[in-house]
Amino acid sequence: MNVLIIGSGGREHCIYWKILQSPLLEEIYVYPGNGGILEEHIVKENLFLDFFKKLIQFVEDKKIDLVIVGPEQPLVDGIANVLQNHCLVFGPTKEAAIIEGSKSWARDFMNQNKIPSAKYKVFTNSKEAIHFLEEIHPPYVIKADGLAAGKGVTVTSERSLAIQAIQDILDKKIFGQSGSKILIEEFLEGQEASVFAFCDGNQAVLMQPARDYKRAYDQNTGPNTGGMGSVSPVEYINEELMNQIQKEIFDKVMNGFKKLGISYKGLLYAGLMIKDGKAKIVEFNCRFGDPETQVLLPLLQDDLLELCFQSAIGRISKTHLTFKKASSLGVVLAAKGYPQDYKKNINLTEFLNNVPENLYIFHAGTKYDSQSREFYSTGGRILNIVSLGNSIEENRFKIYDFLEKNPIENTFYRKDIGILY
Ligand SMILES: Nc1ncnc2c1ncn2[C@@H]1O[C@H](COP(=O)(O)OP(=O)(O)O)[C@@H](O)[C@H]1O
Ligand SMILES: [Mg+2]
Repeated sequence: MNVLIIGSGGREHCIYWKILQSPLLEEIYVYPGNGGILEEHIVKENLFLDFFKKLIQFVEDKKIDLVIVGPEQPLVDGIANVLQNHCLVFGPTKEAAIIEGSKSWARDFMNQNKIPSAKYKVFTNSKEAIHFLEEIHPPYVIKADGLAAGKGVTVTSERSLAIQAIQDILDKKIFGQSGSKILIEEFLEGQEASVFAFCDGNQAVLMQPARDYKRAYDQNTGPNTGGMGSVSPVEYINEELMNQIQKEIFDKVMNGFKKLGISYKGLLYAGLMIKDGKAKIVEFNCRFGDPETQVLLPLLQDDLLELCFQSAIGRISKTHLTFKKASSLGVVLAAKGYPQDYKKNINLTEFLNNVPENLYIFHAGTKYDSQSREFYSTGGRILNIVSLGNSIEENRFKIYDFLEKNPIENTFYRKDIGILY
């Protein structure tokens, strides 16, 4: 099979690494990719302007059988709709990707299908939204309706900050059209986890759960980020709860889409809040999560390419996936200042040369300069350092020992990944 992966993060490097192990693979391409992808596998053509048209041309030229879409934006924009007459696509059509693309659509859908989630109210008028704050108790959860690159949600106990969030989204339009509506949600207490499922329009086949660390600094402080680290498995999710998550959440989503005449094919990500052995939905995403993918795929024993292919053709042959019986942990190395302004062009070559064999490195915001043969940072999240071992403690030791002995100027990382709060 000839495969094209779309995306440039740690998630896509990890998908690439896993797909390379498949006996079904013939040619592989990544667009736009990063410094972790072999140069010969990176799409050289610039597809940036008029992306969909150029993409179709590329798919035809290279006889691509399957396109695996990493990020949410192209899915919400309809990349699967555009490509479906030209090749197979792992990723939902825009009619299905709306489950991530509109948080109010998703909450309505959850209500209609009796999927356990938070109470909510939708507003387009800031005065009415601010007035509503008087009727509810803090903490307040304010969300922009559309995609906002992980920056559209404010959770705060301060009324003034809640009011500011409402005004920023609805009046100042800081997220543009994504903020034409807001949701004010009931605050859910508990511990978060992410569960991913491969979906083929009929069934959802679950991966084991993972937990990510969203805040920038230790002890879950600082601003929300794309994710600073992750672990799998998750201590507080047992088999009984996984069965509940399958039946009460994923099966209901698949049926709900069927009732709408929509076939959900691709990955479905459930962001969960767990309390007293029960799961409620924080949100759904229509693609793999980053950085959870980077700890899950090294544990997955099934063939990822086969799973993506079967999902895309609408017939997954398995009902259960197999994972190594190990603990997996990943730490994100980020540029100082992230998630706000940060430094770029940090030289990573020496660090990368020193990585021991028992650690995995998945590149995120990096590039390789073939003339100087050096690696440089390009993004806020730079590298994922992942370890598999017998315990969280063992993984923490291996990763942090390496990071402490190989410091890079102008970078930082959380020192508490794996610790349960
Ligand atoms: N109803 C809620 N109750 C408590 N915390 C929430 C709630 N909704 C969101 N959060 C917190 O905010 C984070 C981001 O919200 P989410 O809906 O996942 O949006 P996005 O990932 O698109 O920014 C969640 O991971 C969670 O920590
Ligand atoms: Mg989220």
